[in-house]
Amino acid sequence: MSDPVMVDHYAVLGNPINHSKSPLIHRLFAEQTEQDMTYSAICLPLDGFIVGLAELHAQGFKGMNVTVPFKFEAFAACEQVSERAQLAGAVNTLIRTDTGWRGDNTDGAGLVNDLTRLVGDLAGKRVLMLGAGGAASGVVKPLLDAKVDQLTIANRTAAKAADLAARAQHLRVNGCGYDVVPNQPYDIIINATAASLAGDLPPLKAGWFSDAHCLAYDMMYSKEPTVFMQAAQTFGAQQTADGLGMLVEQAAEAFYLWRGVRVRTAPVYHALLES
Ligand code: ATR
Repeated sequence: MSDPVMVDHYAVLGNPINHSKSPLIHRLFAEQTEQDMTYSAICLPLDGFIVGLAELHAQGFKGMNVTVPFKFEAFAACEQVSERAQLAGAVNTLIRTDTGWRGDNTDGAGLVNDLTRLVGDLAGKRVLMLGAGGAASGVVKPLLDAKVDQLTIANRTAAKAADLAARAQHLRVNGCGYDVVPNQPYDIIINATAASLAGDLPPLKAGWFSDAHCLAYDMMYSKEPTVFMQAAQTFGAQQTADGLGMLVEQAAEAFYLWRGVRVRTAPVYHALLES
């Protein structure tokens, strides 16, 4: 038996948090790599994030994941943040320092790793991303670092897409409203809108999905294919996927930041599918 005093403690913070898969994912990672650690899910009051975070630091927690709605408050609460967190303006991973927390954002790396699993090298791919909110902003830089050929960001509020594209300061990125996205094929279409949550869809064009290798990827996940995945199939998308793989991959990146150990994600992904 391990000494409970020596065990390192981690948690995911959110509100609500009871359906989080993160405790199961990190338990499987810890078993696979024989790490002595605990990982719990903690629901903090909507107006109590900063106080709660300070208490967990005082209790000795080594690291945190942060989910909705606290990613922006977590960013503001950090002593230092990584470049990718800075560009996202949001933090999903906290690493303990003596006096506070260092912040990082592993969402984009998680998405890139999962897309790579599905279609191979992303270099040269034409990517269309739907949405320009928090979920979208975290993944722009990692997609560009993966050398996608072209990244078009389309959003209901066109100005937000244009703003996100401008922040990327990159020639291969542009932002616009849905109506002006040409009806032409893309290699990868990512749904980063919150529309799926309400069973809703952004206005899709059939031509976007007409490439013979088109992947339609929803950053949301659910037991059944999301409405976006269903619509993409109807439009002829060759392959569809939900965000479960991204969830596992972003967790693996956080685990690496905390423990310095790389995990094998495939068995954990398959265990989640079966759970
Ligand atoms: P998140 O952190 O999940 O990204 P967010 O920052 O509130 O949440 O962003 C939500 C995104 O989903 C935005 O891009 C939003 O479009 P607007 O910026 O125009 O609001 C998009 N969105 C939400 N509901 C939508 C819908 N029914 N149709 C199309 N886009 C929608």
